[in-house]
Amino acid sequence: MAKNIQAIRGMHDMLPDQIGLWQRLEDGTRQVLESYGYREIRTPLVEVTELFKRSIGEVTDIVEKEMYSFPDSSGDSLSLRPEGTASCVRAAIEHGLLDQPRRLWYRGPMYRHERPQKGRYRQFHQIGVEVFGLEGPDIDQEVLFLTARLWRTLGLAALRLEVNSLGDAEERAAYRAELVAYLEAHHCHLDEDSRRRLLTNPLRVLDSKNPELREVIAGAPILLDHLGEASRQHFAAFCAGLEAAGIPYEVNPRLVRGLDYYNRTVFEWITDDLGAQGTVCAGGRYDGLVAQLGGRPTPAVGFAMGLERLVALLEAAAASAPEASPALDAYLVAVGDAAQAAAPTLAERLRDLAPDLRLQCHCGGGSFKSQFKKADRSGARFALVLGEGELARGVLGVKPLRGEGEQRDLPFDELGPFLLAARPTPISG
Ligand code: HAM
Repeated sequence: MAKNIQAIRGMHDMLPDQIGLWQRLEDGTRQVLESYGYREIRTPLVEVTELFKRSIGEVTDIVEKEMYSFPDSSGDSLSLRPEGTASCVRAAIEHGLLDQPRRLWYRGPMYRHERPQKGRYRQFHQIGVEVFGLEGPDIDQEVLFLTARLWRTLGLAALRLEVNSLGDAEERAAYRAELVAYLEAHHCHLDEDSRRRLLTNPLRVLDSKNPELREVIAGAPILLDHLGEASRQHFAAFCAGLEAAGIPYEVNPRLVRGLDYYNRTVFEWITDDLGAQGTVCAGGRYDGLVAQLGGRPTPAVGFAMGLERLVALLEAAAASAPEASPALDAYLVAVGDAAQAAAPTLAERLRDLAPDLRLQCHCGGGSFKSQFKKADRSGARFALVLGEGELARGVLGVKPLRGEGEQRDLPFDELGPFLLAARPTPISG
C-alpha cells in the first residue's frame, strides 16, 4: 500500500471542530479593528528575500536561520514571509499610501523554520496592525487600548503587558557601546550564542533565555537610562496614557524584541498559561523603516498577535464554559420521491426568506429513520420534516430535537422567523 503523505512538521491542519474558536477570534478582532477605523490590506505570501533582510535585519534569528528562501526559475531569491510588517511597508510605499496617516490591518499565515514546540510552529497565523504617518505617543496608546479592548471582548483576562523604550538610533548607538564594554568584561560568563551576538547584535544578548546568563544580564547597563529628552518624554506620555486608561503594565528594561526595525516604544502582551511561548501579541514603533526601504521618512507603529497562541487560550476558557447552543438551527429531512426532489429548492427558499438561518438539507436519500438519526447527530435544534402531505399543504413538520416539545406544522414562510426566534440568547464573553 502507498505510504500516507503527512503535513510538514510544524504546519497544521485546522479541522472543522477547531474552526469555531478561530472564527470567534478573527471576527471579534476584525470588529474591534473596524470600530477604531483600521482598514484591511492583503499582501502576497512570497516576497523577494532582500525585503526581509533590509527590514528585519541581516543578523536576526529570523533572517539568519528561519526563513524559507528559495531561488525562482529566473534565479531571484524569494522567501515565504516570516512576518507582515515588511510587506505592509513595501506595499504602502509602492502604492503611494503614505500621503496621509493610515491605519492598516492584515491577517494570514507566516513562515519561520523554528524548532516546533507547543505554541511555536513553522506555519503560524498573525493578525497585525500597522499605522503610518503618526509620531506622537497618542497613537502608541491607541494601539494598546485597542488590544486591551480586544482581550476584554474575547474574555481573556489574565494577560500581562510589558513595555519598554528603545530610544532613537543615536541613543541606541551610545548605549550599544556601553553594553559591549560591559559584556566584554564578562566575556567568560557568556555562552557561545551570546559571544556571537556580542559581535553582531549585542542588544539581543539581553533577550537570551539561558538561565546561566541571568546574573550577567541583570547587571548590564539599561537602555532606558540612556534616553534623550524627547524619547524620555514620549515614553512618559505613553505610560501616563496607559495609567489613565487603567491598563496595568510593567516596564521591562530588558525587552528588546527580535526584529531590528524598532525604536522608542516596544511592548509585549504575555500569558503565563502557555509555558515558554507566552507572548501572544507584540510590537512597537519603527520610525526608520519606511525610509530604510526607500520611502520618504514616515513614522510608524504596529503589532502582531499570534493566533495559535490566542486560540489555545480561548480553548482553555471554552473547556471550562462549553458552548451551550448547537451550531445548526434546523436539519431538513424529506420522505418520498416528490418530497426528496423538492427539498433542496425548498431549503433555498427558506434561506432566501431568512438569510441568517443555519439550515442543513439532508442529501443522499435513505429511510425516514436513518435521516432522522443524521438530523439528531448534526446537533441541530429542530428537524424539519417534508413528506408528500406537507408538500401538498405548503407546510413543514417542525420537531424539536433538543429538550421537550411536540411536532407541529408551520407554513414555509413562517419557518425562518420561528427558528430564529427560538435561538437561545447568546452567552456574552
Ligand atoms: P513577532 O514578535 O516576531 O513580531 O511576532 C508577533 C507574534 O506572532 C508573537 O508574539 C507570537 O504570538 C506570534 N509568533 C511569532 N512566531 C511564532 C511561531 N513560530 N509560532 C507561533 N506564533 C508565533 C512580528 O512579527 C512583528 N511584525 C510585529 C509588528 C508589527 N511590529 C510592528 N508591527
